[in-house]
Amino acid sequence: MHKPRIFSVSNQKGGVGKTTTTINLATALAAVNKKVLVVDLDPQGNATVSVGSRRRQGSQNSYTLLMGKDLIQTAAVETEIPNLYILPASQELLGVDIELAEMEKPQFYLKKALSNLDNFDYVFIDCPPAVGLLTMNALVASDYVIIPVQCEYLALEGVADLMKTIDRVKRNFNPNLTLHGIVLTMFDGRSNLSKSIVADVKEYFKDSVYDTLIPRNVRIPEAPSHGKPVMIYDVKSVGAKSYIRLAAEVLNREKELLKNG
Ligand SMILES: Nc1ncnc2c1ncn2[C@@H]1O[C@H](COP(=O)(O)OP(=O)(O)O)[C@@H](O)[C@H]1O
Ligand SMILES: [Mg+2]
Repeated sequence: MHKPRIFSVSNQKGGVGKTTTTINLATALAAVNKKVLVVDLDPQGNATVSVGSRRRQGSQNSYTLLMGKDLIQTAAVETEIPNLYILPASQELLGVDIELAEMEKPQFYLKKALSNLDNFDYVFIDCPPAVGLLTMNALVASDYVIIPVQCEYLALEGVADLMKTIDRVKRNFNPNLTLHGIVLTMFDGRSNLSKSIVADVKEYFKDSVYDTLIPRNVRIPEAPSHGKPVMIYDVKSVGAKSYIRLAAEVLNREKELLKNG
């Protein structure tokens, strides 16, 4: 019996690699015998589909879990990947901000729902591209945040807002919340823009930026249509290899943080 380490993967911008990072980190850790749960908090359900599952309505999904209509022990669904479980998204998540806003302490529903989870090693929460109450719930429930930043023009747009939200959550709701790291995604080694963005982000966020750069790789967008993370779809691809390297870095950094904290 032990509590899992809980990670939110968050950035209010869409299309920056949140879902890809979530499912591939989760799969890499599952492959080294960690028991891992992915919580899909994005109504679009991309993480759900990308691990070969499907969105659900009525029960066994992240909406019914949030609303206290399901228990995590029975709602999490096994995937075809050994040790990897998914709490599927539901379209019902679309109205959840309004619904939660009317409740008492609306930021704490996910934390409560995950509080007696004691048979997993890691939880990765795939956040929607917005800093509404769903993302708040994710941050309040988490030990760590990972922020994917795409190596494109306006890469840092929105990240300042997210950092402010993280600070606010730390002050008011969850003092333990820690920025685990910034992962630079869709890096293109031939593009000067990509390189200058890496330099800018490193200058701004310093050691918080993981050493591992995730390059652009065509196998990554191919993988979800096969219902598989790229690591299973094509383990030899540079995309898979870079996520395996990132997973090792995440584990190492976690050890460092635990030692220092
Ligand atoms: N390293 C990469 N190389 C190429 N395509 C990528 C890479 N990372 C993500 N993608 C693709 O970019 C799109 C957005 O990525 P996704 O992880 O869904 O972002 P988000 O969850 O932030 O919206 C998806 O089609 C995904 O397959
Ligand atoms: Mg996504």
